[in-house]
Amino acid sequence: MKIGIPKESAPGETRVAVTPDVAKKYVKLGLNVVLEKGAGERAGLSDADFAEAGARLAPESEVWGCDIVLKVTPPSDSEIARLKKGTLLVSQLEPYRNGVLIEKLAAAGVNAVAMELIPRTSRAQSMDVLSSQAGIAGYRAVLEAAIRFPRFFPMMMTSAGSSKPCKVAVLGVGVAGLQAIASAKRLGATVEAYDIRPEVKEQILSLGAKFIEVDVGESGSGSGGYAKELSEEGKRKQQQLLSDKLKKFDVIITTANVPGRKAPTLLTEEAVKGMRTGSVVIDMAAPSGGNCPLTEPGKIVVKHGVTVVGELNYPALVPGESSNFYSRNLFNLLGLFIAQPDKGAPKDATPMLRYNLEDDIVAAALVTHEGTVRSGKPAAQKKS
Ligand SMILES: NC(=O)c1ccc[n+]([C@@H]2O[C@H](COP(=O)([O-])OP(=O)(O)OC[C@H]3O[C@@H](n4cnc5c(N)ncnc54)[C@H](O)[C@@H]3O)[C@@H](O)[C@H]2O)c1
Repeated sequence: MKIGIPKESAPGETRVAVTPDVAKKYVKLGLNVVLEKGAGERAGLSDADFAEAGARLAPESEVWGCDIVLKVTPPSDSEIARLKKGTLLVSQLEPYRNGVLIEKLAAAGVNAVAMELIPRTSRAQSMDVLSSQAGIAGYRAVLEAAIRFPRFFPMMMTSAGSSKPCKVAVLGVGVAGLQAIASAKRLGATVEAYDIRPEVKEQILSLGAKFIEVDVGESGSGSGGYAKELSEEGKRKQQQLLSDKLKKFDVIITTANVPGRKAPTLLTEEAVKGMRTGSVVIDMAAPSGGNCPLTEPGKIVVKHGVTVVGELNYPALVPGESSNFYSRNLFNLLGLFIAQPDKGAPKDATPMLRYNLEDDIVAAALVTHEGTVRSGKPAAQKKS
């Protein structure tokens, strides 16, 4: 059985779905790993590294024609056309906004797994790309802020005088937000944070940050550990109350998301106007519409003297580590789809693909199977 690793074609994508370390593990399982020339180059992984791990360079047509194809970003139409019927495609598919793409995959007879739909359960933790990539994004977003901010993050005492620590606010404290708090603290900033889910307060405090109290008069906790969308009145109240509290910050990092919805507006134009010139806003929710109306997706703009960063793909800015984590997540998942030959099987028997729809992880993440569209919703989260 062959595993194909194409070179990612989406603009700005630098990651690769399999690293040489993980390629070695697939080879050990009895699989043939073939990759497109230069597939890992932008992540700092050479073709020679892959060859040493037992993978083989192959023409594009062979890579796309494999039994299993592993990707980072959703395939384009022309890439779907290269996949053969019955292929298992494992990738991030952005299932909430890619209904048409998923229908095309089903029509092509491709069995597709959307990595975003892996349940947030203890059993699936080692496969959770949302968490692994969000952690990296939170770290990289803080570095982006530190570079754009015209002063230091830490307090510094020098012979020319001392500098005050940068005041950072993190709004929305899921996986990315927690890592942003920890990274900003490590750089010496003073950090305060806010989330609509009250249970997050304890996590914020445990990282040594202060909790920003905002009483919107309703609960923001939704099902499965995720946030829910606030009522219109709740949204207005939240924006108003936050506006006043946010003026004092030098850097605001926003990560608030509600699965399948446009990101909530937490930082209004009025609030940005209230910030000091030279302040920085890092809107990590830019891919889902942004937490600030001034954000321009994919761009860095200066509005009212404040730099607003709308970067769309932070993990791709740390491609070596992101690929490491991503490829391990995929390897752990593929254990559910690869069946080793039975004990009594002939010596030359090789692994086979299996689709156990009774398995909760397979059931949640397999979006197309044998020509039909299956799930598309996130499975309920059980806290670990
Ligand atoms: N294995 C596991 O059990 C596991 C693994 C990873 C994450 N999780 C949990 O999954 C959940 C989602 O994490 P995520 O990082 O994917 O989050 P996410 O990207 O969906 O959202 C980021 C944060 O934005 C917050 N938010 C949404 N609307 C808001 C608003 N109006 N105001 C303020 N904040 C708002 C959310 O509460 C969330 O903390 C969390 O509970 C996290 O702890 C569990």
